[in-house]
Amino acid sequence: MEQILVTGANGQLGSELRLLSAQYKHIGWHFVGHSDLDITNSNALARFFEQHPITTLINCAAYTAVDKAETNYDQAYAINATAVGNLAQLCHIHKAQFIHISTDFVFDGTQNTPYHPHQTVNPIGVYAQTKYAGEQLAMQHNPNSLIIRTAWVYSAFGNNFPKTMLRLFAQQPNLNIVYDQIGCPTYAADIASALLHIIIHQKEKAAQGGIFHYVNAGVASWYDLAMAVRQLSGSNCILNAIESHQYPTPAKRPHYSVLATNEIRATFGVQTPYWHDALARWWTAINLNKS
Ligand SMILES: NC(=O)c1ccc[n+]([C@@H]2O[C@H](COP(=O)([O-])OP(=O)(O)OC[C@H]3O[C@@H](n4cnc5c(N)ncnc54)[C@H](OP(=O)(O)O)[C@@H]3O)[C@@H](O)[C@H]2O)c1
Repeated sequence: MEQILVTGANGQLGSELRLLSAQYKHIGWHFVGHSDLDITNSNALARFFEQHPITTLINCAAYTAVDKAETNYDQAYAINATAVGNLAQLCHIHKAQFIHISTDFVFDGTQNTPYHPHQTVNPIGVYAQTKYAGEQLAMQHNPNSLIIRTAWVYSAFGNNFPKTMLRLFAQQPNLNIVYDQIGCPTYAADIASALLHIIIHQKEKAAQGGIFHYVNAGVASWYDLAMAVRQLSGSNCILNAIESHQYPTPAKRPHYSVLATNEIRATFGVQTPYWHDALARWWTAINLNKS
């Protein structure tokens, strides 16, 4: 029987996996949040693996506070790099598939065509550097690691840009939104579906490991995404398009971080729905949760 361990289970992606798991009752699920299992605690991890016959680990745990990471290198490295290498090694020892989630931030965003998984990385900032170090340690300790880079993730759960927009629309008559950063808004529910598809239907290919990109199709700026949320919500808030230098942040963001999904679609046959359609499903989901 497939036994899937999800670490960082209370984050956006972990929560979407938990929601989806209800449709896969033939799988043994183990959802562990930060307080249940700290991935930096190597003894606790080793014990968990000895006590449970895990066949697949999906690591959704990460230090994701991009700006805070700039002044918190050690903690970010411990969670995003050292712990990831340790999880990969444990999976190798216990013959479990290791699936790890990484980020578009491994690229510097200076290209103007979509980034493919084999292309040279140049992580800027602490978060990006620690996530890239995590990829390297995972591959070093377990060459069969399956690393999925994604980007601009939002969900019905947790904090994210579309939910922040909804909150600010209700508080402010106008907002300044950056329009010179381009990426692929990605619904965590679609990442969760793609992961389940790979685990259930493409186990042998997944076992070969590798680095792949998964994002929703199409591209948008933060301004485009804010406008789309505004349209869905019916808000009258006025949105002003501004440049990144007018909204300085401690960590520099890539200007162009569009990820190519050709490889993951061709290898595993996963779907990458158009981001605007995905956002409409998110809108339905958050309104269902309210009722
Ligand atoms: N969000 C994005 O836009 C984005 C973009 C590209 C890639 N990604 C990647 O996608 C993955 C999932 O992201 P997400 O948006 O779902 O992140 P998230 O909502 O921030 O969730 C991360 C989870 O990890 C937990 N965590 C932190 N430190 C931990 C530790 N030491 N042990 C166990 N759990 C720990 C957090 O718990 P606490 O909150 O209790 O600490 C949180 O529940 C991450 O690898 C992230 O780097 C995200």
